[in-house]
Amino acid sequence: MGNTFLSSALLIIFHFLASTSSMKLNSILTDQSALLMLKRNILHDPRNLLTTNWSASTPVCGWFGISCGSKHRRVTAINLHGLGLVGTLPPHLGNMSFLSVLSIVDNNFHGRLPVELSDLRRLKHIRFSNNSFDGEIPTWIRSLTRLRSLNLSHNNFQGAIPFSLGYLSKLEILSLSGNQISGLIPSSIFNISSLLNVNLRNNNLSGSIPSVSRDLLSLESVDFRYNNLVGHIPKDMFDHTPKLTELKLGDNLISGRIPSSLFKCKDMRFLSLAANHMEGNLAGEIGNLSMLQVLYIGQNNFKGNVY
Ligand SMILES: *[C@@H]1O[C@H](CO)[C@@H](O)[C@H](O)[C@H]1NC(C)=O
Ligand SMILES: *[C@@H]1O[C@H](CO)[C@@H](O)[C@H](O)[C@H]1NC(C)=O
Ligand SMILES: *[C@@H]1O[C@H](CO)[C@@H](O)[C@H](O)[C@H]1NC(C)=O
Ligand SMILES: *[C@@H]1O[C@H](CO)[C@@H](O)[C@H](O)[C@H]1NC(C)=O
Ligand SMILES: *[C@@H]1O[C@H](CO)[C@@H](O)[C@H](O)[C@H]1NC(C)=O
Ligand SMILES: *[C@@H]1O[C@H](CO)[C@@H](O)[C@H](O)[C@H]1NC(C)=O
Ligand SMILES: *[C@@H]1O[C@H](CO)[C@@H](O)[C@H](O)[C@H]1NC(C)=O
Repeated sequence: MGNTFLSSALLIIFHFLASTSSMKLNSILTDQSALLMLKRNILHDPRNLLTTNWSASTPVCGWFGISCGSKHRRVTAINLHGLGLVGTLPPHLGNMSFLSVLSIVDNNFHGRLPVELSDLRRLKHIRFSNNSFDGEIPTWIRSLTRLRSLNLSHNNFQGAIPFSLGYLSKLEILSLSGNQISGLIPSSIFNISSLLNVNLRNNNLSGSIPSVSRDLLSLESVDFRYNNLVGHIPKDMFDHTPKLTELKLGDNLISGRIPSSLFKCKDMRFLSLAANHMEGNLAGEIGNLSMLQVLYIGQNNFKGNVY
C-alpha cells in the first residue's frame, strides 16, 4: 500500500520534472530551429553574416541580431537592419512565442507575411519598412493585441487598410507610407486612443478623412500627403487632438475651409495643406499657432493674408 503510494507519488514528481525540463529544452530549441529556417529562407546574404554567424554549434542568444530575455533565455528580439538580405519569412517564426521585436528594416524580404506570425502574442514592434513585401495588409494583425508599432512603409502592399487594425488598442505608431494601398481610410484608426503617429503618405487612398470620435490625447503626427483624398476636413477633428504638432495633408484633393477647431492645437509646428482645393479667408488666426515653424498652404484657393 505505502509503497504503491510512494512510487506513484514519485512517478508524478518525475513526470512533472520531465515535462517542465523538456518544455524548456524544446522552447529554446524551437527558437533555434525557427531561426535556422529563416537562415535557410535567405537566398542572398551579401556580407555572409548569417551564413557564418548563425551556427547551431554556438548558443542562439549570442547570434548576430538576436536578443534573449535575461530570466527565461528565450529569444525576445530579432534585429537585422540593412544587411541586404534577400529572402522570405518562414512560417516557423510564429513558434517564437517570446518574441517582442521583429525588426528587418532596409533589406529585400519579399512575398506575403505568413499568417503564423499572428501566434506571436507578445509581439510589440513590427518594423518591416523598406523591403519588398506584397499582398494585402493581413487582417490577422488584429490578433497581435500588444502591438505598439507597425511600420510597413516602403513595400509593395496593396488593397485596403483592414478596418480591424482599429482593434489594436495599444498601437502608437502606424506607418504604411510608400505602398500602393487604396480604398478608404477606416474610421477605426481614429478609435485607437494610444495613437501617436500615423503615416499613410504616398499611397492611393481615396474618400475623405474619417471623423475622430474620441479624444486622441497622445496623437502628435498625422501624415496623409500624396493620396487622392477628397471632401472636407472634419469640423470637430481638432477638438479631440490637443497634442497635434504635425498635420500633413498636402497633395490631395481636399476642399472646403480650414476648420476653426484647428487653432486649438497650440503645439502645432508643421502644417501642410498645400496643393489641394481648399478655400476661405486665411484670417489672422493662423497667427494663434504660436509654435508654427513650417506652413505650406500654396496651390489652393485661399484668400487673405497671413500675419
Ligand atoms: C556572432 O556575432 C556576434 C555579435 O556580433 C558575436 O558576438 C559572435 O562572436 C559571433 N559569433 C561567431 C561564431 O562568429
Ligand atoms: C513550428 O512551426 C512550423 C510551421 O509553422 C511547424 O511545422 C513546426 O512543427 C512548429 N514546431 C516546432 C517545435 O518547431
Ligand atoms: C532601403 O534599403 C536599401 C538596402 O536594402 C538601402 O540601400 C536603401 O538606402 C534603403 N532606402 C532608404 C530610403 O532608406
Ligand atoms: C518607419 O520606417 C521608415 C523607413 O525605414 C522610417 O523612416 C520611419 O521613421 C519609420 N516610422 C516611424 C514612425 O518609426
Ligand atoms: C472603439 O474603441 C472602443 C473601446 O476602445 C471599442 O469598444 C469599439 O469597439 C471600437 N470601435 C471601433 C469602430 O473600432
Ligand atoms: C489609384 O486608384 C484609382 C482609383 O481610385 C485608380 O484608377 C488608379 O489606377 C490607382 N493608381 C495606382 C497607381 O494604383
Ligand atoms: C486666437 O487668439 C486670440 C487672441 O489671443 C483669441 O482671442 C482667440 O480666441 C483665439 N482663437 C482661437 C480659435 O483659439
